[in-house]
Amino acid sequence: MAGRSSVRLPGATARVYSNAVEVAQEAARWITGVRVSRTGRLDVALAGGSTPRRLYEALAAPNTQDGVDWSRWHVWFGDERAVPPGDQASNYRLARETLLSRVPIPRGQVHRMPADQPDLENAARRYGEELLGSVPDRLGAMPRLDVVLLGLGENGHTASLFPGDPALEVRDELCVRARADYPPYERLTLTLPLLNAARYVVFLVTGPGKGDALRGVRAGTVPAGRVRPSSGELLWLLDDVAAEALR
Ligand code: 6PG
Repeated sequence: MAGRSSVRLPGATARVYSNAVEVAQEAARWITGVRVSRTGRLDVALAGGSTPRRLYEALAAPNTQDGVDWSRWHVWFGDERAVPPGDQASNYRLARETLLSRVPIPRGQVHRMPADQPDLENAARRYGEELLGSVPDRLGAMPRLDVVLLGLGENGHTASLFPGDPALEVRDELCVRARADYPPYERLTLTLPLLNAARYVVFLVTGPGKGDALRGVRAGTVPAGRVRPSSGELLWLLDDVAAEALR
C-alpha cells in the first residue's frame, strides 16, 4: 500500500497519510482487497471507538461496496461496552449505523458481542464458544480471524485491553470481561492470544493525543504494543498528526 511516508513500529508496516479521510479511504481499499482464503469467507473483527467511523462509512459508500462480495463476510467485534446495543456508547450501534445497515451482509453473519447481558462472564464464555464454533480457520487450536481492526487509546489500550487489567494476561480464553479506566467501565474484549492469531491486524490511529501511546507501542510498554500476530501481518495506518510522535 502506498502512503505519503512511513514510520517505524516493531514488527509492522506503518504507513502515514495526510489526514484521517485518507487513512479511512486507504483502509477501505486495503480491506476490500484482502484475498478470501480457502475457507471461502472473510472473518473480520471490527474496532470500536470513534476513529473507525470514517472507515465504515467508506466501506458502505456505493463505489466501494459494489465491488465487495458481502455474502462472504462474517463480522465480529474486538470489544464492546456493557450497554444496550442501541446506546450511544455501543460499538455495535456505531457499526450498525455506519456499515451493517448499509451493506448486504447476511444477518446470521453479524456476531454481536453481548456485553449488555447481566452475567458478563457467561456472555464472554458464550462469545468465545461462538468464535470456536463458527470461525473455520485455525492457527494451532486458536480460531484464526482474517482481519482484526483496532484503535489505540491515549493510554495505549486497544480493544478493551487496558493497562494493568487482568484481561491483558489471559491466555486460555478468547473473550473475557474487562474493566476500562473511563466510562463505560464494564466491557467485554477479545484476548491477546486471539488477536495475535489473526491473518492481518490493522491499527487505525489519527489525530492528536495518541503520541504517548504510540511511543509506548514502539517501546513495548503499553497493551497495544503486545499485539504482534504470531503468523500474520501487522499494519499501522496513521495520519500525519498522529505520526508526528514517531518522527
Ligand atoms: C473502544 C475501543 C477502543 C478504541 C480506542 C481509541 O471500545 O473504545 O475498542 O480500544 O479503539 O479507545 O478510541 P478512538 O478511536 O475514539 O480514539
